[in-house]
Amino acid sequence: MDPGHFFASSRVLVVAGKGGVGKTVAAATIAAAASRCGLSVLLVEVAGRSAAAPMFGASAQGYEEAVLVHEVETNGVRHGEIRGKSITPDEALVEWLSTHGFNRLVKRMAKSGILEVVATATPGIKDLLVLGRIKALESDRAADLIVVDAPAAGHALGFLRSPTGVRDAARTGTIHRQAVEVLELIGDPERLQLILVTIPEETPINELIETSFAVEDEVGVKLGPVVVNSVMPEIEGLDRSAARARATKGERAELDEAAAFRTARTTLQDEQLDRLGNELPLPQVRLPQLFGTEIGPDEIDILAREFIAGIEAL
Ligand SMILES: Nc1ncnc2c1ncn2[C@@H]1O[C@H](COP(=O)(O)OP(=O)(O)O)[C@@H](O)[C@H]1O
Ligand SMILES: [Mg+2]
Repeated sequence: MDPGHFFASSRVLVVAGKGGVGKTVAAATIAAAASRCGLSVLLVEVAGRSAAAPMFGASAQGYEEAVLVHEVETNGVRHGEIRGKSITPDEALVEWLSTHGFNRLVKRMAKSGILEVVATATPGIKDLLVLGRIKALESDRAADLIVVDAPAAGHALGFLRSPTGVRDAARTGTIHRQAVEVLELIGDPERLQLILVTIPEETPINELIETSFAVEDEVGVKLGPVVVNSVMPEIEGLDRSAARARATKGERAELDEAAAFRTARTTLQDEQLDRLGNELPLPQVRLPQLFGTEIGPDEIDILAREFIAGIEAL
């Protein structure tokens, strides 16, 4: 598939997955890949303060919107700007009140904890507020593409389910309308797609398969390709490398052991990748496991190229 076409197919990509599988890395990678295709990107984090900023070499921002990567043009190829932003329920509530004609006093009350009272009375309202904010950003065309680093997989389901609950609890009024509008966004594949992230291991893959069926059935959201992160590349000729030829007998035994270990791991990984392909009828885009200390701009650049290659191969 043409990557430009892929990124133009939806205005919001929500990236979700079990905690620790590399959801933030995947969201940053997708943002960087879209930027390489010339799109301006807004990377939205909802889990807390920005974890993605350092991956772009930007200093960790607070909750304010900030430019993570400036637009550049080299040899006639334009890379779009990437901005980052964190959305919290409190910020979303203040924003919502101010755009719905409530006065300063109410805003101050929101800051002083009234949200907790409202949230206890209406489950799902916090998630709905955050989704409402994302919907507003989408309607305002805040960027060519909005990438959302969603809460962890189990929570992602609750996150996307929240508007249905609120819509049914508040049968009329502004809150009801908000829920309906958010449901329209979630149910429209040309506006929003869900990208699930996993790693090639048994438990995360099981959880991914479960989540996929649940969100499709209950939320009616369009599922984009699955991102399989931290895939260990196969190394050819481990057993007859030049190093092996020069090695002493003892070193050779160690090399053989390392090769056997590595082969066993890639075999297990391939079994899981096959199983995912068989049990979940969604295309896969694989990202390699990178070795080094941290994921920074160079690593994101490598992963973004891999992501684009993965989309091209679909
Ligand atoms: N492809 C990869 N190669 C190497 N390290 C990775 C890769 N993906 C993620 N990591 C590392 O794994 C950890 C978890 O990634 P992160 O994106 O923060 O996970 P999540 O957002 O799902 O909790 C981080 O330390 C990150 O640097
Ligand atoms: Mg994260």
